[in-house]
Amino acid sequence: MPTARTIFTEIFADDEAFQLFCSIAARGEAQGGWENGRIAALVPRPQQDLAPKIARHGADEDKHGRIFNALLRARGLDPVLVPPETDYTMRLESAGIGLAHSRLRADEELTEQDIVAYLAHSRVTEQRASEQMQALCKSAGDRPDIGRAVRMISNDEDNHLAYCHEELLRLATAGHAEFIQRTLRATALAEIAIYRDVSTAVMSHLSRILGWSRTKSALLAAGIQAVYLYERLGGWRGMVSLRTPSRHNALGGPPPPHSTFAKRLGSEPGRPAANL
Ligand SMILES: [Fe+2]
Ligand SMILES: [Fe+2]
Repeated sequence: MPTARTIFTEIFADDEAFQLFCSIAARGEAQGGWENGRIAALVPRPQQDLAPKIARHGADEDKHGRIFNALLRARGLDPVLVPPETDYTMRLESAGIGLAHSRLRADEELTEQDIVAYLAHSRVTEQRASEQMQALCKSAGDRPDIGRAVRMISNDEDNHLAYCHEELLRLATAGHAEFIQRTLRATALAEIAIYRDVSTAVMSHLSRILGWSRTKSALLAAGIQAVYLYERLGGWRGMVSLRTPSRHNALGGPPPPHSTFAKRLGSEPGRPAANL
């Protein structure tokens, strides 16, 4: 029976599989970085205190994208095109989860409700990121080539999740509790289906690259479906709860080096910057 560790070992041992894995990860991180950078630039005046934290969030995601690209370069590989069916962030956006990119590309200030929606979206997706990175750390955290990078990203994702809990709890107390719960529920239910579909698509690409048998592919596909069923039958509730995090003000510090996110009008990954 394949385990997470054996699957990751196979991916890391094959250039083409590693190239696809890192390219998908880098693309998702860069997309998250762009979204957060734009939100930070468009924060409404009464919520200005949040702008540096959102900018920091974006800078972290952007840094993660650079790290995955650096892992590729270290092996003498270039990023490859990400198949659309494996693009988690774009599929969420197409499903209307989070803030529409058309809003983020426009130069119009967001509303307080937009900020709440952004945080609710992030609370769900950051939990996914945090759990995925913890799984990657468990399976590959002791590898000399990627161990340090995945541990650093994992720590950042835990910070992002803590920040979302903290800010949503504050906004719930400020009168947004019902909207937050509604948005979290809708986001979680949409996310678990998109995560299943994206996982299935990634697995099928890896299966082709790594030459897996029909049995092995079927076992992995069944595993993905079982996770979805668990989440659909109640696991999703763990993605919508709010609790005071053990890490306070997790994004309160200065942004990581080489960050220019605070007010930048950068280009959306995969799109020219011409209109911005
Ligand atoms: Fe990230
Ligand atoms: Fe994150």
